[in-house]
Amino acid sequence: MGADLNTEVGNRIRQRRALVKMDQAALASRLDVPVSVVQGWESGSGAQPLDLTGLADVATALSTSIADLVPAPEDDLTDGVRLQLPDEDSSIVGSRGGVDYYVYRCLVRSPSVPMLIPLVVDVLVDDRERAEFNGGHAGHEFIYVMEGSVHMQWGDEAAPKTADLPTGASIYISPYVSHTFTALDGRNARLLAVNF
Ligand SMILES: [Fe+2]
Repeated sequence: MGADLNTEVGNRIRQRRALVKMDQAALASRLDVPVSVVQGWESGSGAQPLDLTGLADVATALSTSIADLVPAPEDDLTDGVRLQLPDEDSSIVGSRGGVDYYVYRCLVRSPSVPMLIPLVVDVLVDDRERAEFNGGHAGHEFIYVMEGSVHMQWGDEAAPKTADLPTGASIYISPYVSHTFTALDGRNARLLAVNF
């Protein structure tokens, strides 16, 4: 951990320890380490580095989670707004079953709303027999068919539900529902997909 992070984590350990009415000796005894080690953590000196397992043990001893002991990601908003211009978008090819399946263009994200993941998705495969399910994912998903039309399959991969969806259709998908899209009409299709 860097010096600033050591200091920040040390402050959080001290604050949490005070909140649960534990002195340094009590915390040290719970973790079976010398008091000087706890003092080192709390001073942020970095002399007694905490690895991930150690931090998890401290969190457990203080009846909290690691997330409570590390600083939240820095807010990257300007007066509540984050902008991303088109030339700042990154593109990633998603392969499934050994073929290029989707191209994802990653739109604006912010640590202020980590669950919000907006993407433009180009659907490259137009043969539904080659459809590859994703097994579902965390987070809800909203989809809008921007261009072309798509064949959607979801649910039980052995006996999926299906729908043909034209430009302008919109879709909501629950977390962990397996789904897949292939293009219809022999041309690529483009989706706006917002995970949240
Ligand atoms: Fe999805």
